[in-house]
Amino acid sequence: MDNNNACVVVGGHSAELKLRSSTIGPSVLDIGSLYEQTKMFTYDPGFTSTASCESSITFIDGDEGVLLHRGYPIEQLAEHGDFLEVCYLLLYGELPTAAQKKDFDYRVVHHTMVHEQMSRFFTGFRRDAHPMAVMCGCVGALSAFYHDSTDITDPHQRMVASLRMIAKMPTLAAMAYKYHIGQPFVYPKNDLDYASNFLRMCFAVPCEEYVVNPVLARAMDRIFILHADHEQNASTSTVRLAGSSGANPFACVAAGIACLWGPAHGGANEAALNMLTEIGTVDRIPEYIARAKDKNDPFRLMGFGHRVYKNYDPRAKIMQKTAHEVLGELGIKDDPLLDIAIELERIALTDDYFIEKKLYPNVDFYSGITLKALGFPTTMFTVLFALARTVGWIAQWNEMIEDPEQRIGRPRQLYTGEPQREYVPVSKR
Ligand code: CMC
Repeated sequence: MDNNNACVVVGGHSAELKLRSSTIGPSVLDIGSLYEQTKMFTYDPGFTSTASCESSITFIDGDEGVLLHRGYPIEQLAEHGDFLEVCYLLLYGELPTAAQKKDFDYRVVHHTMVHEQMSRFFTGFRRDAHPMAVMCGCVGALSAFYHDSTDITDPHQRMVASLRMIAKMPTLAAMAYKYHIGQPFVYPKNDLDYASNFLRMCFAVPCEEYVVNPVLARAMDRIFILHADHEQNASTSTVRLAGSSGANPFACVAAGIACLWGPAHGGANEAALNMLTEIGTVDRIPEYIARAKDKNDPFRLMGFGHRVYKNYDPRAKIMQKTAHEVLGELGIKDDPLLDIAIELERIALTDDYFIEKKLYPNVDFYSGITLKALGFPTTMFTVLFALARTVGWIAQWNEMIEDPEQRIGRPRQLYTGEPQREYVPVSKR
């Protein structure tokens, strides 16, 4: 047997399987020929041991709490880079030169407006619709407006669609917010940077001058960087699976948004803040810790735990720092929710249950406090996550389309239903 192969013996059949090496992190056992050789499938609901694709975009070492984009640590990107630079990095694989950055920023900025008819879409939604519901609908609808960038076999059209989505997502997110609160839409202003433009579209009103606070804009930009990509998480895998059938990128990203909405994924930032509000005072924390540990209680500490990180989520550390910066800039000396979060974290990190299960704060634990201080209602939190994650989805989608091994994603199953049986006419049942 080849040294690069592994031999698996099952049910009297032996199968020779290829080992594939990673640059860092675990290698994989390629089981693509397992069924052919043994007539057996593998079983791994939740994909705890299964790599669904090959990727060179993002790497996570969950035990060490490391997150790299194209090899660069998230801490360095968040400290020194800006969001559009990270977008360029994720899409093209390298950090841009000054000239490439200028050109990229220009190309994104000149796609920020959405088709005017899109604004009429919004009025079809109830005012009290959750903005994530609105986003699912409106982003999916982009494919009805931008036919000239839906041919996925054309690399140029793929890039135009990618830039369109990165550029238009803040505009749509701000429109969802404005519609929700009954204010007029604010058009993008292309001489502002990405984050400032977004803050202005959310918080400016036509009757007053709006001056963007650079500290808050920088914090917003950093929040976008922290959410830009996270390898094969549930929503990214959804985008890839949707795209594997050849669906257009706008439809695929809409599918990603729908998946992100769930409280176990992107919806956790909204759920975490709601939880902190419900806890209300520091003295009630032990009650909630006890509930989180109780097997018979479905309650979980939102913003805690992660499928991959069995250490502190590196994004949570930066988010905590950003929360302090934003509160400091806004002169919020005592935020009871921040006090509860800090104390909750302290207790959880010293509690045997959380230590044993390696449950640490994740990115969503401090993001809600920061976003609330920036002025966003909880219902917008996951929308902001979707806005930032769009580049990750689209970079992963592009990588999949360009992968020569790409085929339609089609998992198999362990069937446990009735064996074949004869139809019984209704009169005889
Ligand atoms: N509070 C209390 N117990 C927990 C928590 C929590 N937040 N998270 C996991 N556990 C326990 C869980 O009960 C289980 O215990 P046992 O082994 O006794 O059954 C054990 O830890 C392992 O949990 P799991 O559900 O098997 O782990 P998972 O990898 O399937 O789930 C998770 C990961 C993120 C869905 C989960 O930790 C969770 O629900 N956390 C709260 C929601 C949250 O903050 N999500 C945001 C994730 S980061 C951003 C993103 O991806 O969008």
